[in-house]
Amino acid sequence: MLTVGIETSCDETGVSLVDGFNVLSNEVSSSVHLHAEYGGVVPEIASRFQVEYILPVFEKALKNADKKIRDIELISVTSKPGLPGSLLVGLAFARALSLALKVPLVEVDHVKAHVISPFLNKLSLNEAKEKFPLLGVVISGGHTSIFHFNTINDVKEIARTLDDAAGEAFDKVSKIMGMGYPGGPIVEKKAGDYNGMGDLSFPRSMIGANKGLDFSFSGLKTAVLYYWNKSSKDDTEKSRVCFSFQNACLDIIEEKLSRAIVNTGLKRLSAGGGVINNNYLRSRMEKLCLAKGVELHLPDKIYCNDNGAMVGALGAMEYMWR
Ligand code: KG4
Ligand code: ZN
Repeated sequence: MLTVGIETSCDETGVSLVDGFNVLSNEVSSSVHLHAEYGGVVPEIASRFQVEYILPVFEKALKNADKKIRDIELISVTSKPGLPGSLLVGLAFARALSLALKVPLVEVDHVKAHVISPFLNKLSLNEAKEKFPLLGVVISGGHTSIFHFNTINDVKEIARTLDDAAGEAFDKVSKIMGMGYPGGPIVEKKAGDYNGMGDLSFPRSMIGANKGLDFSFSGLKTAVLYYWNKSSKDDTEKSRVCFSFQNACLDIIEEKLSRAIVNTGLKRLSAGGGVINNNYLRSRMEKLCLAKGVELHLPDKIYCNDNGAMVGALGAMEYMWR
């Protein structure tokens, strides 16, 4: 079923043509460069950009898939969560398209879309259905959550962040040291440059045995701020802070994932979201899942960030099995 997936929840305008999990085209335009000077997404700028780009991105997605507008059989759009002004652009566009083409419309949850993103170009719809039940993990700029999926339509959130999302912490650490936005890739690169032995032992919050599955990153971010303000602020110090922050952040994530695996007894884990770009996190997850006998699904890097393909594929899944 030829499905168009439309993603406008934040600063990316993503439109994709998919047939099940098979991606025929995947176009993404981003206003990320316009937010750089603010160190974070400015909602008004993001929504203005969505209005400018939704139509050209849609037309490009059709063209690159070599399809005509009348070929579309299903429309899937992100309806939540996200910035209201940005979401509205995709939703209005998708509803108008559905009315004009007389084609069914599915409104999907962006966070669930990240969870199924590892299956893109790898599984058929039926094969994806066989992967449930599973643990779904979303680690992005807006979310750090673990879900227990019985089926695609029967989901329970079993862990969430009590304050900042992990990606947000990467962004703030980068901002504190004046290194640019988005911070994740910059901090990862800088951490990799560090070849000293001195981990700064930043706090690992919520890690005590009685603390459950929820995450917290704001104490870690504040510890970085206090350390940085008193430091020599030279380049080696920057690398050391990035290295130590990343270690602490990944220790927290690894510990919580390990607990979630033990608590639920689930034998499959599927992860998505911008922070899953991080190579250190990917290899830690691989090692953890290997040790625990869990089948791990990680997305290709192009599908870690927000995109229409994951939205299209999730819409097709939900439409088939609702
Ligand atoms: O999923 P995404 O594109 O948007 C949201 O839905 O939030 O994630 C963006 C987030 C940003 O906070 C960015 O800094 C982070 O993902 N990120 C990374 C890396 N690449 C992107 N964090 C850590 N390491 C990376 N390599
Ligand atoms: Zn996202």
